[in-house]
Amino acid sequence: MQPICLAIDTTFDDTSVAILKGHNDILANLTLSQFKDHEAFGGVVPERASRKHLEVIHPLISESLKQSGLTFQEIDYFAVSHYPGLLGSLLVGVTVAKSLAYSLDKPIIGINHVESHPYACFLSGAELTFPCLHLVVAGGHTLLMHARNHFDYQIVGRSLDDAAGECVDKVAKMFGHPMPGGPVVDGYAMQFSGEDFEFPKPLLKQKGFDFSFSGLKTAMLRFRQQNPDILDQEGPILAAFFKSVCEVLVEKTFSAAESLRLNRISVSGGLAASRKLKEVFTSESLQRGIDLHYPSPGLCTDNAAMVACLASFRFEAGLKDDLNLEAYPNLI
Ligand code: KG4
Ligand code: ZN
Repeated sequence: MQPICLAIDTTFDDTSVAILKGHNDILANLTLSQFKDHEAFGGVVPERASRKHLEVIHPLISESLKQSGLTFQEIDYFAVSHYPGLLGSLLVGVTVAKSLAYSLDKPIIGINHVESHPYACFLSGAELTFPCLHLVVAGGHTLLMHARNHFDYQIVGRSLDDAAGECVDKVAKMFGHPMPGGPVVDGYAMQFSGEDFEFPKPLLKQKGFDFSFSGLKTAMLRFRQQNPDILDQEGPILAAFFKSVCEVLVEKTFSAAESLRLNRISVSGGLAASRKLKEVFTSESLQRGIDLHYPSPGLCTDNAAMVACLASFRFEAGLKDDLNLEAYPNLI
C-alpha cells in the first residue's frame, strides 16, 4: 500500500490542498486564487490574505477528501509549506496541518515551498534524476539550485532584488493590467517579435549567477513616463521587455549549468507557465544537448501537489517533523 499524503500550501495568496498517493498519483489538487480579492488594493494585502485562507481552507480540505473518496482516517501523513512566504498566511496552513496531525495522531512534514516547485516536473511525468540544475521562477523568487540529490541542494544564484515574476507583474501593471500580469505579457511575447524595442538585460554579462530585475523595471517605468503616447505599441513593447527577461534567465541558467558541468536542467514556478519562456529554453537546450525538464502548465503555478510530492520523498526517507514545526517568512 502506498502512503497517502494530504498537503496544504498557504504561502502567499493562493490556498491549495492536495491529496497524493505514493510519489505521483494525484487524487486531488485544488487551488483557490485570491487575485480578485486584492485587485482593488493594487497588490496582495497580507492581513486580508490570511483571513481569506482561513475562510476557504476547511471547505477545500473537505472537497479534496470528497474528490479522492477518502476519509481523514485514510490519510497517512500531513505536509505543509512552512517557509518562505507571508507569515500570517503560512501560519494558517501550519496551524491547520498541526491540528489535523495532532487530532488524528499522524505524522507531519514541513516543506520549503521553493524547493518543492521542481517536483512539479516529476508529477508531470519526468524522471527525477540527479544532479540537476533547477531554475525556479516564481512570483516572489528567482533561484538557481544545484540539486545533488533529494534535499541536498545548494543555491547558486538568486534574485538580488525583484524576482522575474514580480518584475513582469509590476511592468504589466504599469500598462494597466491587473495581477497576475504574466499571462498578458506572455501573450504579447508570442504575438510580437520583441525586436522593435531594446531594453536592458541586467547582469547579463556580469560574472556569477545572481539575477537583478529591479533596474529593468525602473527602465520600463521611465520609458513609459517618457513615451505617454505610445500605448498603441503596447504589444511590441511588452514583447521586447519579456525578451530581455527571457534572455537573462536563459543565459544565467545555461552558463551556471556549464560551469557546474550539469547536463540536466529543470524550469518551474509560475513564470514557467509562459509559452515563450518554454520555447526559448527548449530551443537552447536542443542546441546545447541539455536534458530539459518542464512541468505541465497547470503545475507551474502554486499548488499543493508539488508540496505533497516533495513530502513523499521525505516521508520515505523518515524525515518527519513534530508539532513544534514553525512558520518562517524567509528562505533560510
Ligand atoms: O509560482 P507562482 O504561482 O507563485 C509564487 O510562488 O510566487 O508564480 C506567480 C507568477 C506571477 O508572476 C505570474 O504572473 C506568473 O507566475 N504566471 C505566468 C503565467 N501564469 C502565472 N507567467 C507567464 N505565463 C503564465 N501563463
Ligand atoms: Zn511558488
